[in-house]
Amino acid sequence: MRIVLLGPPGAGKGTYAERIKVLEGIPHIASGDILREEVKKGTELGKKAQAYMERGELVPDELVEEMIAERLKSPEAERGFILDGFPRNIPQAEWLDKFLNGEGVKLDGVFQILVPEEEIVRRLSGRRICRQCGAIYNIHTGIPRFPREDGRCAECGGELYQREDDNPEVIRRRFKEYEEQTAPLIDYYRKRGCLFEVNGTRGVENAVEEIIRLAKGGERE
Ligand code: AP5
Repeated sequence: MRIVLLGPPGAGKGTYAERIKVLEGIPHIASGDILREEVKKGTELGKKAQAYMERGELVPDELVEEMIAERLKSPEAERGFILDGFPRNIPQAEWLDKFLNGEGVKLDGVFQILVPEEEIVRRLSGRRICRQCGAIYNIHTGIPRFPREDGRCAECGGELYQREDDNPEVIRRRFKEYEEQTAPLIDYYRKRGCLFEVNGTRGVENAVEEIIRLAKGGERE
């Protein structure tokens, strides 16, 4: 299964991708997570990306494309993958088309996750992530889950943190970038007949089931 999850910041891309990864046994390739890891490790790529990320702007295409190519070529991506946060503009989508053509494979679907803006602001302000295992929590809504009573990760006991770009000013900038650069991908993929809309407010399991069913050629409920 080869799919792309598309949606504004906080739509639930990472949450759904982690679940699909477990159910389908395919890698979750999240450009934002990989970039944050590079920043943490202080690599050349991380140093170049950091300032863009802090401002909530897109990192230059060639840096991200190289990093994604490496993941897509890895043996674990042979059976499929879930792309989360990539592509994020038309040049990246064209690059991906060319790359997949070269590999002789194609996407099974691009899933646009629909969530109202006020709900997204609420979700992002309550999002907490485990420093150790990456599990996602929400301290306001408890969806997909609340942290442990002592405020630590319910999976591994690790410390939870709030992302630096989850502050109101940077969230606004990320939204603007989404509307200007990423939203045109909706038409791009619609014209190619591979776009599916998914209601992102019906609970994680419902959305995940629908994505998997549609990606496998099933009917919409
Ligand atoms: P990235 O990490 O990709 O951030 P983003 O797109 O802003 O997306 P988020 O990770 O914030 O949201 P999400 O949709 O994954 O939501 P989540 O599942 O966590 O990118 C960060 C930065 O990296 C960018 O600003 C840019 O600088 C750079 N970058 C990344 N990719 C790039 C690229 N391709 N090109 C250039 N630059 C790039 O969910 C959010 C919250 O909602 C959680 O608390 C969760 O528990 C809750 N939630 C999820 N689903 C539900 C539900 N169904 N109901 C209720 N709550 C839910």
